[in-house]
Amino acid sequence: MSDARFDKDAGIWTIAMRSAWYVFGIADDGAAIRHVHWGPAIGDSAAAGLAAYGDGANGLRQPSPGEHKRLWGMDAPDEYVPWGGLRYEEPSLKAEFADGTRNTECRYAGQRITREGDAVTVEVDLADARYGLTISLCYRAHDGFDVLERWVRVRNDGVAPVTLAQALSANWPLPRQDQDWQVRYLHGGWSAETQLTEAALPLGKFTLESRRGLTSLNYNPWFAAHAGASEDAGQVWSGALAWSGSWKLVFETTAAGPHAGKRTHVTGGWNDFDWSLRLAPGEETTTPVFAGLYSDAGFGGASREWHAWQRAHVLPRTEPRPVLYNSWEATSFAVTEAGQTRLAELAARIGAELFVVDDGWFKGRHNDQAGLGDWTVDPAKFPDGLQSLIARVRLLGMKFGLWVEPEMVNADSDLYRAHPDWVYHFRDRTRSERRNQLVLNLARDDVADWLYQTLHGLLGTYDIDFIKWDFNRPISEPGWPDAVGDNPERVWTQHVRNLYAIIDRLRDAHPAVEFEGCSSGGGRVDLGILSRVEQVWTSDNTDAWDRLAIQEGFSQAYPALAMMAWVTDSPNPLTSRELPLSFRFHSAMAGSLGVGGDLASWSEAELDEAAALVAAYKQVRRTVQLGTQYRLTPARGKLTAWQYLLGDEVVVLGWWAPRHYGEIPPPVRLTGLDPAQRYQTTDGTIYHGAALMNGGLRLVDEPAGADGHNGLYGFGSRMIRLSAVR
Ligand code: DGJ
Repeated sequence: MSDARFDKDAGIWTIAMRSAWYVFGIADDGAAIRHVHWGPAIGDSAAAGLAAYGDGANGLRQPSPGEHKRLWGMDAPDEYVPWGGLRYEEPSLKAEFADGTRNTECRYAGQRITREGDAVTVEVDLADARYGLTISLCYRAHDGFDVLERWVRVRNDGVAPVTLAQALSANWPLPRQDQDWQVRYLHGGWSAETQLTEAALPLGKFTLESRRGLTSLNYNPWFAAHAGASEDAGQVWSGALAWSGSWKLVFETTAAGPHAGKRTHVTGGWNDFDWSLRLAPGEETTTPVFAGLYSDAGFGGASREWHAWQRAHVLPRTEPRPVLYNSWEATSFAVTEAGQTRLAELAARIGAELFVVDDGWFKGRHNDQAGLGDWTVDPAKFPDGLQSLIARVRLLGMKFGLWVEPEMVNADSDLYRAHPDWVYHFRDRTRSERRNQLVLNLARDDVADWLYQTLHGLLGTYDIDFIKWDFNRPISEPGWPDAVGDNPERVWTQHVRNLYAIIDRLRDAHPAVEFEGCSSGGGRVDLGILSRVEQVWTSDNTDAWDRLAIQEGFSQAYPALAMMAWVTDSPNPLTSRELPLSFRFHSAMAGSLGVGGDLASWSEAELDEAAALVAAYKQVRRTVQLGTQYRLTPARGKLTAWQYLLGDEVVVLGWWAPRHYGEIPPPVRLTGLDPAQRYQTTDGTIYHGAALMNGGLRLVDEPAGADGHNGLYGFGSRMIRLSAVR
């Protein structure tokens, strides 16, 4: 059980999670809150000693309360950094007051520790009494996890407006050490999302950010800092931001002189670029959660913790996902009722459970140049509306889903002709189009209300089970001419707030409807959207080999349950790579399985094989989607192998590229099994747990001919399911 306590005498808070501790306290007679410890459990007296002496050298002698306050310090970094006084590092918050004062002078002003259900929350108030500004530092830990959620609430109880020029969610000081910090992060681009990379943190600043008004394809708001960890072992400090708009993570290492030595902190939240937020008297704002996690079990341990915590406390649902069919790659914009019906029949034949019509179903949408904004069914494509297709899909035993991109508009649309002022723009400036589209100013309440009513109407009119919510271009020219003088710079955060509010309202009004988040592939993948959608579209790149690297990156931060992966055609339409059908399936089976190929062009034999593979996936999906994932080998080496474990069930997926010299990759050693237990494969072979973990499991057999499965020279793959013999 997580525990949070406040030692009044010492002025120290300790948040004891499953195995990690987080400690901070009041310093300088209340003029500062300083950080003490984030890492393994260290015990109360060591924490008190660390707080008092910085290095814990006198930890055997507990400081007296008075002595504590005197000793606090010098060395300890600020827990949160409201700009003001002698603070020169990246600030956490900058407030500007109506009389021209631009600094804050905050003092400790009270605290609360509350327990609700399985979570304990600590709130610590800092007050700038002169202006009535209160900054509450909030921390929450759920029982059974080492994830600490942090956020900040800023309240203006003064008589004049306050403008926030920066308001980050949390500041995470990393432990002092001699070695350089390394940071792992996810970068990418369209069709190459979540590429895992690593950099040594320099002296100075290293920033990851999005200024695009969305999470972005380029960087994902997640990191893992370490100084020599590996996949299986070592200390990792990781963080992830729950925000789907512009964000920043700043890693700052300051060389603080010979006595203090260098120190590193990570701070993050809303990107302050071009942003400000005015708080009227009585108003408050709450920043998004910036969650942090300490693990001593390497990168694998850290990601398993992220996965388990997100399944338990972030994702809206935790039942295994239905097998989905999506028609985008098959039909693109050429959507017709007859074509979709044919695909639905074939999708049902191979075992799909949810049939999704992608882009191209609505009025005037024959290509990407027109239609966005006019969310009514195109009568040329569906003369009787969507009802008859939906009825057919249901008769085939599937649920029905529909694609929308509601925050966008084409200039060639009835909506834009009626409301040209509804898009972001600066007066008399170019309105830059991308993919021929403009972004609706969702910060406007009238636009947000229209959008809610439009989707609410669609869900009310048709029997829709699933919405794929896309967002295919970043924001540019973020102007709001009607709000000039009334803090139009708030659009960066208000857009996302209204987006979240709309999805929340839709979910309330239509509780059975499920959602997929999408942004040109994986451009909107973060803890904020994941608390509102069942799954996300991982990438428009459906090449099953490329996908392994994308999925390896995704899995660092996010669980397989939420990772939508389609099997598409070969050669792949994007990369032209040819891969066996089984390989394509096995790659997509590492997440939430979907099929996105043009089934009408698949042979009878391929459809039969697909049906068998879908049936096999249904046997293992609980384990894949809800189990613990072990990345046994790095992606796209000689053999990529991932293992999933849930109770008595084990699933191992392996993939390999064409091999050289007939070389056969060695067996892979499984992990997390009961060594004394015996495990049986579906073909009846029995292995000892200890043998699987020490000798390994052979995924690639001796040369076995050209069955596209264990073929010697081609791409090959294998799925092995084992169950404990009870
Ligand atoms: C981008 C998405 O990532 C694709 O899956 C597809 O929905 C297209 N948009 C449709 O325009």
